[in-house]
Amino acid sequence: MIEIRNLYKTFGSLKVLDGLTLTVKKGETFSVLGKSGTGKSVTLKCIVGLLAADAGDIFVDSVRVDLRDRKSLFSIRQMIGFLFQSGALYDSMSIRDNLIFNLTRHHKVRHNEADEKAVHYLTLVGLGRSVDKMPSELSGGMRKRAALARALVIEPRILLYDEPTTGLDPITSAEISDLIREMHSKFGITGIVVTHDILCAGIVSDRAGVLKDGVLKYTGTLNELAETRDEDVKGFFRNPL
Ligand SMILES: Nc1ncnc2c1ncn2[C@@H]1O[C@H](COP(=O)(O)OP(=O)(O)OP(=O)(O)O)[C@@H](O)[C@H]1O
Ligand SMILES: [Mg+2]
Repeated sequence: MIEIRNLYKTFGSLKVLDGLTLTVKKGETFSVLGKSGTGKSVTLKCIVGLLAADAGDIFVDSVRVDLRDRKSLFSIRQMIGFLFQSGALYDSMSIRDNLIFNLTRHHKVRHNEADEKAVHYLTLVGLGRSVDKMPSELSGGMRKRAALARALVIEPRILLYDEPTTGLDPITSAEISDLIREMHSKFGITGIVVTHDILCAGIVSDRAGVLKDGVLKYTGTLNELAETRDEDVKGFFRNPL
């Protein structure tokens, strides 16, 4: 479903991705673990075509990500929901309107239908009684739920997450991770989750890998990763930040 082959990306003299290769199968959720500044967000941005790689290929459902090809980029973005590191809800709108805006503006859904879907997905993530609240009135965990609902409302086949549990306490973090897992199996979503949070990765992912020196150092189930002798992987498990 998502195939990344030999991806290279530098910023000036800074080498960030150095031949990164990854295949995520349909319905699978893969966690990209890695310390701060290793290129996790850059990788996600390359997949959705927000950043151009210097070399390498990315295929999303067999369509090549090519920033010069507007049409294929548009069709790829219609398939993908993206949860930004900051949550990125519009502060001046209720969460219901945040979802409606996403649908009417970016996915050409009519207002009535958008409203119905907005309430449906907010209810699904446990915010049915808070649909008319402003983002500023929500707790950190509720904001993450709202951001997840906003990503789900377009009914994506693929969801990409950038640190879905940062800033949450361990219990809320586990709740959000459970919710992600549940939504992926309910809707058959293929996912990539970028995170420092080993607990979250353990709940949401089928497989994971540690990003270091521009490549995924080791991929496997989280148990396999926790037991590997690879020094880089062990280093991450000892100190994930
Ligand atoms: N647009 C950009 N221009 C220049 N440098 C950038 C740009 N985006 C990212 N970088 C650099 O690339 C490196 C990787 O950044 P990235 O945001 O992918 O890190 P990350 O692994 O997501 O870290 P964190 O866990 O802190 O979010 C960093 O050194 C960053 O400064
Ligand atoms: Mg990041």
